[in-house]
Amino acid sequence: MKLSTIFSSGMLIFFSVAWALPPRGYSDRSLRRTLRHSNPSSRLEKLQPDSVGSSANATIQYSGNWSGAVLVSPPTGEIFNSAVGTFTVPSMPSANSNGAAAAWVGIDGDTFATAILQAGVFFSVNGDTVEYGAWYEWWPNYATDIDTDDFPVSAGDVITVNIEATSNSEGTVTLINESAGKIFAIDLTSPTKLSYLGGQNAEWIIEDYTQNGGLVPLANWGTVTFVNASASTSANNKLGLSDATIFDIEQYSDIMTEVIIDSDSSVSISYT
Ligand SMILES: *[C@@H]1O[C@H](CO)[C@@H](O)[C@H](O)[C@H]1NC(C)=O
Ligand SMILES: *[C@@H]1O[C@H](CO)[C@@H](O)[C@H](O)[C@H]1NC(C)=O
Ligand SMILES: *[C@@H]1O[C@H](CO)[C@@H](O)[C@H](O)[C@H]1NC(C)=O
Ligand SMILES: *[C@@H]1O[C@H](CO)[C@@H](O)[C@H](O)[C@H]1NC(C)=O
Repeated sequence: MKLSTIFSSGMLIFFSVAWALPPRGYSDRSLRRTLRHSNPSSRLEKLQPDSVGSSANATIQYSGNWSGAVLVSPPTGEIFNSAVGTFTVPSMPSANSNGAAAAWVGIDGDTFATAILQAGVFFSVNGDTVEYGAWYEWWPNYATDIDTDDFPVSAGDVITVNIEATSNSEGTVTLINESAGKIFAIDLTSPTKLSYLGGQNAEWIIEDYTQNGGLVPLANWGTVTFVNASASTSANNKLGLSDATIFDIEQYSDIMTEVIIDSDSSVSISYT
């Protein structure tokens, strides 16, 4: 969606600008305890067993922290400049097993491992407490939480995430609450000269993210399905998920997820 169409639609808009954000980062000790980091994939190369169902012909990769669908390269001579997808925030099925995960849409971070422009929602279970929050991140920066007053998130919300790279060093992330017609959008700049985008990967992911330097225990999110998922390229090609590579999370030889590409615009990611 173009920002101009957002502005003309008459919906309630929450707009922030990067320079207005509170300071954050490695040096801020007071924030350290809650610092979350969505990382590049830790691809594990291994022989793939045959999979079943509608993903029968998909390539499968295993990763320590990513599950979902990844377009691992744009058509020759093009780069990805946007990725979009819509998902329903899961009602965490097992409120007594502590853990967390994050659902997000992004550009780069797989084979192009020096940058990711991404945004989404994290869900975290601690005893009876289930917490949800929206965030965005240009790796290697930490994730920035979006103020819940501006963009509250709860189970059942239908959220569209749109990631747009306007150049290799600038982009806009937009989150839309389809249930309420509420929008959060922010312009971002590459945090360093080493984290310019390559436009080489586009992805729809549930991640075991890092907090305080370690992976969070993975929560059981049930199934999250990204719908209306597509990526666009510099030549205005719109690509769906038919040729996406499936990523499953594997930890200590356990495969923790099942990923099915349901259609060219939809991928379902289940905790198993
Ligand atoms: C898998 O590949 C075979 C042979 O090319 C094809 O007939 C079949 O339709 C494909 N299945 C899917 C789910 O794409
Ligand atoms: C997750 O990704 C980061 C960055 O690639 C990596 O340092 C970390 O080891 C990964 N976690 C696992 C379990 O592989
Ligand atoms: C989304 O809309 C629903 C329904 O109006 C509301 O309960 C929820 O808090 C909203 N979430 C956001 C992120 O605005
Ligand atoms: C997906 O896109 C179609 C066509 O634009 C729209 O009608 C539908 O509401 C969208 N689905 C969701 C869950 O947003």
